[in-house]
Amino acid sequence: MTYVAPNSVQARDIASIVHPQTNLVQHLELGPMVIGRGDGCRIYDDNGTEYIDAAAGLWCASYEQMRKLGYYHLYRGTTNEPGVDLAEKLLSIAPVPMSKVLFQCSGSEANDTALKLVWYYHHAIGKPEKRKIIGRSMGYHGSTSASISASGKPDMHADFGLPFPGFLHTEYPHYYRHHIDGESEEQFATRLADSLEQLILREGPETCAAFIAEPVMGAGGGLTPPRTYWEKIQAVIRKYDMLFIADEVICGFGRTGNMWGSQTYDLKPDMISSAKALSAGMQPISATIINQRVFDAMLDESRKLGNFAHGYTYAGHPVTTAVAMETLRIYDEMDMIGHVQRVGPYLQSAIGKFADHPLVGEVRGVGLMTGIEMVADKTTRAQFSPARKVGATVDKHARANGLITRFVGDRIAFSPPLIITEEEIDQVADRLGKALDATWAELRAQ
Ligand SMILES: Cc1ncc(COP(=O)(O)O)c(C=O)c1O
Repeated sequence: MTYVAPNSVQARDIASIVHPQTNLVQHLELGPMVIGRGDGCRIYDDNGTEYIDAAAGLWCASYEQMRKLGYYHLYRGTTNEPGVDLAEKLLSIAPVPMSKVLFQCSGSEANDTALKLVWYYHHAIGKPEKRKIIGRSMGYHGSTSASISASGKPDMHADFGLPFPGFLHTEYPHYYRHHIDGESEEQFATRLADSLEQLILREGPETCAAFIAEPVMGAGGGLTPPRTYWEKIQAVIRKYDMLFIADEVICGFGRTGNMWGSQTYDLKPDMISSAKALSAGMQPISATIINQRVFDAMLDESRKLGNFAHGYTYAGHPVTTAVAMETLRIYDEMDMIGHVQRVGPYLQSAIGKFADHPLVGEVRGVGLMTGIEMVADKTTRAQFSPARKVGATVDKHARANGLITRFVGDRIAFSPPLIITEEEIDQVADRLGKALDATWAELRAQ
């Protein structure tokens, strides 16, 4: 065993990162080769030893050096300090005890990695038949073949021949739209948890591998879960020994008023996917954070197969990790979470006042995320016919008034930049009000 000095980049790397195409067991013993600097065709390790990189990284030569090391990869046990810094930071702020981090370039890939690790995990523990992935209708986890299969967006499956077999979808927690008259939020949550359990029993629990979900549904229309939903759903996942992937791509880094949506809703995931605000969108980077249970199974596979045969060329690209690290530092410096906790309620009440508008059936949100739903009849909750394109009409009038919204059917989801101020929220509300009034006038004129 080579000597790895405590607190060295090597030791910190061993404790925090999963490397592509690497024997994970050997890596724990031998540690990484640390790339400190690059210059033309040459790279230098942290002792200053020079190498000509005759493989050009993974066939990528970087002539323009960005910062110290314009490009390097994490394959075959190689590392660099910005990646280690970021992995450590993510582990230190994770909502539940976590063990390691895998890097990718997008939220889709973070979820794709997590889904592959579900299959790998169940193979490692001797249950290869446990393969089915359960997502939720209207859930969104990305555009790769597997992440869109886990998503419940029929428009994104159509004519792609997706979802792949073995991807199932349970009901999504849209209380306003789907509760039965007189049903409380708690009763609705119980019904959805029962429905998930029935799905698992129908499919055979021995074949159900994992549940994947966003703490708050973003692309589904900014849908916050009804009371007791998460505790009931998690109880079912645990009962059938399934892994739980929390897709924090939207919720992570403050959106819901805590660092993670998992903290806002007391989730205990085995894996977390994060992206977007991880670098404030400044660099394409995502991170999949995994717990010890998953990593232990991966070590077993390295003992058996000799190599963790997964990875992306740009995983942990030093420019992306350095930018993400700086982003998280700036969030801390600005007290971004505190800011969201201060302005979030202001947004909720500014948009909340439109609950009285004749077009609006529901306004509901958390932190800096809120959804409003337009209905034809506020008492019966009857929907407009899709042909009237009410959501699109509000969006059209919003744009005419200088407001960009995101509509999903007749629902509008708001997720403004985390730095938004109260004055800017007033402007959002003012412009939204004009758009709703113009839509209402247009509908009445039809
Ligand atoms: C919850 C969630 N997961 C995953 C993704 C996919 O991320 P990306 O577009 O970076 O691949 C998105 C994108 O909006 C998302 O909202």
